[in-house]
Amino acid sequence: MKAVAVIPGKPNSVHMAELPMPSLDEVPDGRGVLVKVLKIGVDATDREINDALYGNAPPGYDFLVLGHESFGIVEAVGKNVTHVIPGDYVTCTVRRPGGSIYDRIGRSDITSEETYFERGINLLHGFLTEYFVDDAEFIVRMPVGLKHLHVLAEPMSCAAKAVEQVFEAQKRLQVWKPRRAYVTGAGQIGLLATLILRLRGLEVFTMARSLKPSLKADIVESMGATYISTSETPLEELAQKVGKADFIVEATGSSSVAFDCMRVLGHNGAIVWTSITGGQRNAQVPSDELNLNWVLGNKLLLGSVNANFKHFESGIADLALGEVTYPNVIEKILTTPIDGLENYETMMKALVEDKDALKVYVNVAEV
Ligand SMILES: NC(=O)c1ccc[n+]([C@@H]2O[C@H](COP(=O)([O-])OP(=O)(O)OC[C@H]3O[C@@H](n4cnc5c(N)ncnc54)[C@H](OP(=O)(O)O)[C@@H]3O)[C@@H](O)[C@H]2O)c1
Repeated sequence: MKAVAVIPGKPNSVHMAELPMPSLDEVPDGRGVLVKVLKIGVDATDREINDALYGNAPPGYDFLVLGHESFGIVEAVGKNVTHVIPGDYVTCTVRRPGGSIYDRIGRSDITSEETYFERGINLLHGFLTEYFVDDAEFIVRMPVGLKHLHVLAEPMSCAAKAVEQVFEAQKRLQVWKPRRAYVTGAGQIGLLATLILRLRGLEVFTMARSLKPSLKADIVESMGATYISTSETPLEELAQKVGKADFIVEATGSSSVAFDCMRVLGHNGAIVWTSITGGQRNAQVPSDELNLNWVLGNKLLLGSVNANFKHFESGIADLALGEVTYPNVIEKILTTPIDGLENYETMMKALVEDKDALKVYVNVAEV
């Protein structure tokens, strides 16, 4: 079976590889699910693995199959699987348990271990292939009415976790009712976070550097949020105009923006950082001012990464609610289809060069 893989540690090594057809027997206790891959999304993580910034092959292999954003159809299930049946559309979680107490309670998304086991990223093959098998506990059903949103389930799970973690942590305030949110970054994560926050009834300002008109500005505004180009209206000017935020989701990929956000958060507010910043940049921060305002304002900063089964489920529920609230908007994020695994070079080129691509995905097979 065909697969798209890299040789970890070797820059620009993306290539076609061969994998054996997986079998239900690989999973014990009749809990296996065999999935035929239909579409796989790719993002900056796949690009950075191909740049050899991180990523490791599974034991016994010198290559790592890419792809952690999956969408497929169930072909067969083991005898103890009940929540999906052949013909169901599904996606699959990414991280697999290590040995920490969090892993043992199904929360490998918050593992305390330094080594992550992540399909398509570290030590486990990904989904950019024709079929995969996994334990039923990692297989999430996608409603048939959402099949046109396919690979968005995985990035949506990360946005869902980030927002949920803030609401969970803010229970410390007993009566927290956020009214105004900023979302920095209008890529897939920022746009999906915008959707969730609008569905929760917040006034949302979503920002990126690009000027209007643009597809991302149209998507933001179709969800009843306001698009701000930070090239025209920097963050602090926005805060002076409309007031500081109660809730900030940071998703630009820029650590300096992450720190800038700390100056525009209101009292009792919370920021969730989601950007993965692999570089070595340093930013100067007004440390006395921040320290004082954060202490006096009882503010909260948290980081959020990855997602578990329940975040996939809540993310998918919000995709469904988003579809009926803002019809035909979410699918506009799916900008850049690539036909066939063999077009992996075009896929990587789109990831690296196409600045207008909000979501690159590979059409692997028809149903
Ligand atoms: N924590 C998690 O679980 C998780 C999951 C997936 C991804 N991520 C990370 O989250 C971040 C966002 O992911 P993504 O896929 O949405 O990225 P993306 O598609 O690259 O989007 C980044 C967005 O931020 C804007 N931007 C970049 N630099 C900016 C700046 N200095 N000021 C204002 N806006 C800026 C970009 O637009 P302009 O170019 O117009 O400014 C773009 O809209 C990345 O770091 C990614 O690695 C985290």
